[in-house]
Amino acid sequence: MATLFKNIKELIQVRTEPIAFVSGKDMNILPTIKNAFLVVEDGLIADFGKMEDCPNNDFIEVIDAAGKMVLPTWCDSHTHMVYAGNRENEFVDKINGLTYQEIANKGGGILNSAKLLQETSEDDLYQQSKIRLEEVIALGTGAIEIKSGYGLTVESELKMLRVIKRLKENYSIPIKATFLGAHAVPNEYKNNKDGYLDLLINDMLPLVAKEHLADYIDVFCEEGYFSVKDTERILEAGKTYGLQPKIHVNQFTSIGGVQAGVKHHALSVDHLEEMSKYDMESLQNTKTMPVGLPGCSFFLGIPFTPARQLIDAGLPFALATDYNPGSSPSGNMNFVVSTACIKMNLTPEEAINAATINGAYAMGLQDKVGSITKDKRANLILTKPINSHGCIPYSFGNHKIEAVFINGEKKLEY
Ligand code: NIG
Ligand code: FE
Repeated sequence: MATLFKNIKELIQVRTEPIAFVSGKDMNILPTIKNAFLVVEDGLIADFGKMEDCPNNDFIEVIDAAGKMVLPTWCDSHTHMVYAGNRENEFVDKINGLTYQEIANKGGGILNSAKLLQETSEDDLYQQSKIRLEEVIALGTGAIEIKSGYGLTVESELKMLRVIKRLKENYSIPIKATFLGAHAVPNEYKNNKDGYLDLLINDMLPLVAKEHLADYIDVFCEEGYFSVKDTERILEAGKTYGLQPKIHVNQFTSIGGVQAGVKHHALSVDHLEEMSKYDMESLQNTKTMPVGLPGCSFFLGIPFTPARQLIDAGLPFALATDYNPGSSPSGNMNFVVSTACIKMNLTPEEAINAATINGAYAMGLQDKVGSITKDKRANLILTKPINSHGCIPYSFGNHKIEAVFINGEKKLEY
C-alpha cells in the first residue's frame, strides 16, 4: 500500500530527529536532501533519503518528481475562515481612505460580520466555509486553525464552533478550533462591557467546553476592544476549562498584551505589528510563539511585524494568513511566505521554517505535520519544476505548486 516519490530534485524541511520549533539563527537553516526519494505508507511518511538508497519494492504508485521539489504542506495557525458573506463594501471605504478603526466606528468591521453571521443558518455557514477550506488546501495548506468570534451571542458563537467541528469531521487535514468570543463588544453591551464578559465567561464558555468545541481560547486585546485586564480575566476563565491561550495582541497598539500572553502561557501571540523593546524582551526564554500576519499588514496598509528584529534577537517566528473578511481576505500561504521575504526581509529558508514547523507548533501540531519526519502525516506539496526552493517565495502571486497530497492522497493537480 506504499507510494514512492522518486528523483525529487530537493526534499525540503527534512528533520530526521523531531523538533518542536526553530528560533534565531537556526531559522536560516532549512535542511534538505538533493536527488531524494520519499515513501508514503498508510497516509504517513514511512521513509526518505538519497536516491542511491531508494528501495526497490513493489509500489502501488510511483511519482517521478524529476526537476520538482517536495516540501511539507503549509501550516496556517491563525485564521477566521468561517464567516458569512464578505465585506466588499468596506473595501471601497478603505480605498477611499478610511482606516480600519474608522470603518468599524461607522458600523462596519467585526460587528458587521457578526450581524451577517447571526442571520445565516448553520448549514449555509458550513457551505460557505467549506469552499474556502477547499480553496486553501489546493493552495498548499495542510493544517489550519480556525477561530470563532463573528457570533458574539451564545447561540451564534456555538453555531460557528459547530461549523468548525463539522469541517474537522469532514476534511482530512488537522483543524484546530479557537474560541474567540472576545473579538468585539456587541452593540447591546456597548455601555456594559463587563456584562458581555459575564455572558462570555458564565454562559458561553461552559457550553463551549461541554460540547468540546474549542482547543484554544483567544481575545482581541486592543484599545477599543478588550483591555489587558479583560484579557486576563478571560484567560483565567479559559484555563479552568483547560483552554490554552492564542491571542491577538499589538495589532495597533502596544498595551501589555504580549506580557499577559506570556504570563498565561499562551501558545502564541499573534499580530505584533507594534512592538516595543520591552515586548521583544518579554518573549525571550518562553514557549510562546510570536506569529506574524503579513497579509493583514498588506491589506490594511499598517506596519509589518518586525520579524527581522525578532529573529535577530534569537526568537522563533511563525507565519499565518489571518484569513478573514475584514483585514485579510486571503488564505493563500504562498503569498504570505513571499510577503514575509519581500516586506519583512526574511530569507526563503526563514520564511519556509516559519510557515511549516513553527506554524505547526503554534497550533500544537508539531508531532503531526510541519516537517519531513518519519511517522508524520504525508501532507506534501509537490512543486512544478523550479530552479531552487528560493523560487517559491520569489515568484509571488504565481505559486509554484503542481499538486497537493493530504495523507498521501493527491488532492489537486494544476
Ligand atoms: O486578526 N483584529 C482582529 N481580528 C481580525 C480582523 C477581524 C475583522 O476585521 O473582521 C484580525 O485582523
Ligand atoms: Fe486574526
